[in-house]
Amino acid sequence: MFGGVFSALSLAILILVLVVECWKVYLNKTKLKNFYHVKGWPVIGTAFNLIGKNNEQIFESFKTNELSYTWVGPMRLFHVDRPEDFQAILTSNKCLKKAFPYDFLNNRTGLLTAHPSIWKDHRRTLNVTLGSKMVHSFMPIFNEKFNKMCNLLERKLNSNIDIHCAFFNVSMDLVLSTSFGLNWSKLSMQNGRGDEIHNLIIEIMEDVQNRIQKCWQWNPIYKFTQNYETDVEKFRKFYQFSRSTLEIKRMDLAEKLEHGENELDEAKEKNCQNFLQKCLQLEFEQKWTMEEVYEEMDTMLIASVDTSATVLSGTIIMLAIHQEYQERVVDEMREIFESVDEPVTNDHLKRMSFSELVIKEALRYFPIAPFIGRECTADFPINGGIIPKGSQVFLDVLRMNKNPKYYGENVNEFYPERFLPENCANWHPYLSVPFSAGPRNCIGNRYAWTMMKIALSHILRRFKLTTDLRMQDVVIKPYLLLKIGNKNAIRIERREWKRESQII
Ligand code: HEM
Repeated sequence: MFGGVFSALSLAILILVLVVECWKVYLNKTKLKNFYHVKGWPVIGTAFNLIGKNNEQIFESFKTNELSYTWVGPMRLFHVDRPEDFQAILTSNKCLKKAFPYDFLNNRTGLLTAHPSIWKDHRRTLNVTLGSKMVHSFMPIFNEKFNKMCNLLERKLNSNIDIHCAFFNVSMDLVLSTSFGLNWSKLSMQNGRGDEIHNLIIEIMEDVQNRIQKCWQWNPIYKFTQNYETDVEKFRKFYQFSRSTLEIKRMDLAEKLEHGENELDEAKEKNCQNFLQKCLQLEFEQKWTMEEVYEEMDTMLIASVDTSATVLSGTIIMLAIHQEYQERVVDEMREIFESVDEPVTNDHLKRMSFSELVIKEALRYFPIAPFIGRECTADFPINGGIIPKGSQVFLDVLRMNKNPKYYGENVNEFYPERFLPENCANWHPYLSVPFSAGPRNCIGNRYAWTMMKIALSHILRRFKLTTDLRMQDVVIKPYLLLKIGNKNAIRIERREWKRESQII
C-alpha cells in the first residue's frame, strides 16, 4: 500500500518536473530567444547560486551590457543594466508593479510598495503634498532644524561622530514637522530620542536584506521560520512609533478645535494640505481606510528618512576625503552667504551650482536604490524578444553607475565635474536616475534636493570635515536601500567663517 502511494507520488513529481522543463524550453525558443540565459540546474535553476549573497553578488552572474535572465525555480528573474532598457521599463505601464522583495516590507497600500491599482489613486492624490509650492513652504523648517543639528554638533568638536545617525535624526525631525505637520519645536528627535528608532529601522532593513539572501524564505514558509517572530516584533515597535505620531497630531487638532480653529478645513480651503492633512481628510470622507493612512505614514517614514540620511552621509564622507572639493563648496558658500547662519532662500539654492554637482556625484556613487525591481503584468516586447508576463525585472542601478562604458575610466573616482553640462550633454537621459524615473519615480525628489542643499550649506559654513578614510576604505552595502558600512568616520572642527570682503 505504502509502496504504491510512494510510486504514484514519484511519478507525479516527475511529470511535474517534465512539464515545467518543457514549458521553460518552449518559452526560451519563442519569447526569450534574444536574451542572454544564465543557466542553472533543472527545476531549481540558479537558486543555489543566490544563497547567502548580497544583491551585487547575486547579480554578478548576469552579463553586463546585455539583457539577461535566469530561472529560480519557476520564477524568471531578468537583469537590466543599460539606460535604454531602463527607459523602456520605467516608462511602461506594463511594468508599474513592484517586484516581490518589496513585499518583505509588509506594506500593502503605501506608495512605495502598493499594487498599481491602488498606487495610481494614491499617487495622484499625494503628488501635490510634495510639489514645489509645498516644499517651498517647508524651507524655514529645513533651516531651523539644520541650524539646530549644527548647534548639537558643536558639542562634539574634534571627535569622531556618527554622521548617519545625526542626519537620520534631523531627517526624521523634518518629515514629522513638514509632511506630518507636527509641532516638534519642543519634542525634537535630535535629543537622543531618534537614536532608538534609527537603530530599529536599520535592523528592519537588514532583516529584509537577510530574507532576500535566503531564497527559501521568499514564500509563506518564512512564517514558520525563527526569524519571522523577531521580524514581526521589530515591525510592531516601528508601527507603535508611527501610530504614536498620529496620536500627537490628533491631540493637536483637538486642542485647536477647542479654540475654534479647524486646521484640516482651513488647509483644504487654502489648497495647501500637507501629506498627513490630505490623508486624514480622505479618511474622514471615507475614501481611504485608516489602514491606508497608517501605511502611507509608514511609507513616508521609511522612504524619506534613511534615504536622505545615507545620501547626505555619503556626500559628507566624500567631501572629507576630498579636501579640494570641500574647499570649492565652501568658496561657493562664501560667495553666496553674508554670514555663517544666514537662512538659505530659494535664490541661494539656485546659486549653489558646484554643491549641486557634488550631490549628483554622491548620488551616483551611493545609489540609494542600488537596484529597482518591477514585475511585468503583461508580455513586454523589448530588444526583439519578449519578457513574459509575471517575470521579475531588476534594474541594476549600481552596476550602471559603475560602468566605464558610460562614465569613462575614472568611474571609481569621486569626480563631480563629470556632471558639468558640457560633460554630460551626450548622455542617455536615463543614465543618471538616482530618484528612479517615469511615473513611479521618487515623489520626494524636490523635497530631497532642497533639503540636501540646505543641509550642506549649514554644515559646511560651520565646520571643517576630516576623516582617516581613503576611497578604498569606503564600504558600500547594496541592500534594498543602500547602506554605507563606515561608522564614526567623520571628525569636525569649527570653521573660520570669513568672506573675501571681510578679509583685510
Ligand atoms: C536623497 C534622497 C532620496 C533618494 C535618492 C530617493 C530615491 C528614490 C527612489 C530611487 C525611488 C524608487 C524606488 C523603487 O522603485 O524601488 C523612490 C521612491 C519613493 N520615494 Fe524617494 N528618495 C529620496 C528621498 C525621499 C524623500 C525625502 C521622500 C518623501 C518626502 C521620498 C519618498 C518616496 C516615496 C513615497 C517613493 C515611492 C514613490 C512611488 O512609488 O510612487 N523619497 N525614492
